Amino acid sequence: MTNPDSTEPASARERLIFALDVDTLDEAERLVKQLADRVGVFKVGPRLFTRVGSLVFDLIHGLGSQVFLDLKFHDIPASVGAAAKEAARHRVKMFTIHALGGSTMIREVANQLAKTTLVPGASPPIPLAVTLLTSHSPEDVRALGFEQPVPELVERLGQMAVRSGAGGIVCSGHEVRELKAVLPPGCVFVVPGIRSPTDVAGDQSRIMTPAAAMAEGATYIVVGRPIRDAEDPQAAAERMVDGIAEGLEARGGS
Ligand code: C5P
Repeated sequence: MTNPDSTEPASARERLIFALDVDTLDEAERLVKQLADRVGVFKVGPRLFTRVGSLVFDLIHGLGSQVFLDLKFHDIPASVGAAAKEAARHRVKMFTIHALGGSTMIREVANQLAKTTLVPGASPPIPLAVTLLTSHSPEDVRALGFEQPVPELVERLGQMAVRSGAGGIVCSGHEVRELKAVLPPGCVFVVPGIRSPTDVAGDQSRIMTPAAAMAEGATYIVVGRPIRDAEDPQAAAERMVDGIAEGLEARGGS
């Protein structure tokens, strides 16, 4: 397992990942400035990265925050290994790969990260495996040629990914408890699909509150639109952090 950061994040705030799902560097800058001392990590996905590239890393690092690069790499091992090296060079805290890229691809990511020279004091990024996209229906999964029920397949892919060198898993709050039971201690669980009790679900169908996701065992939660589209994004982020603290307390503070 490649997880140099196997100590749990120290505070509830450090466990909140904000999805920077915007189109321009100006919009990103406005949100990062507003939220840098209220969230721990900013998630950069294909939409913003394709538009502005690594300028967004400079913006986030410049304000003392951390980057989660969510590009879900899935390619031949040499290509994904090289991308992992670049992520490390850019001081990214965590990045995503597809478990379906297979064990050789994931092992190459771990090898390349182990070989990368970092600036003093920096930790290598945590490769997080995405098992099955939640947008896949059971019919889609069967059409891809998998016979197993989705929960079993998620567990199998998660175990394979972590055995091959992933430091954690991106999963739904409804999957954390069972995955945690079969994956090694120190494995990171990053949970999107989070809504406060008063938020609208939008297109997320299997949502959970921050408190419930943490009580189930999440290490980090990912929140996008409920903060981005709130009248007061700072207050919305603070409510999420309060929920994280509440959930941590329910599971005994760990
Ligand atoms: O719905 P919301 O705006 O909070 O989504 C935040 C982020 O979570 C998005 O960037 C999306 O890509 C990610 N995500 C998700 N559902 C998954 C996996 C990732 O919404 N199952």
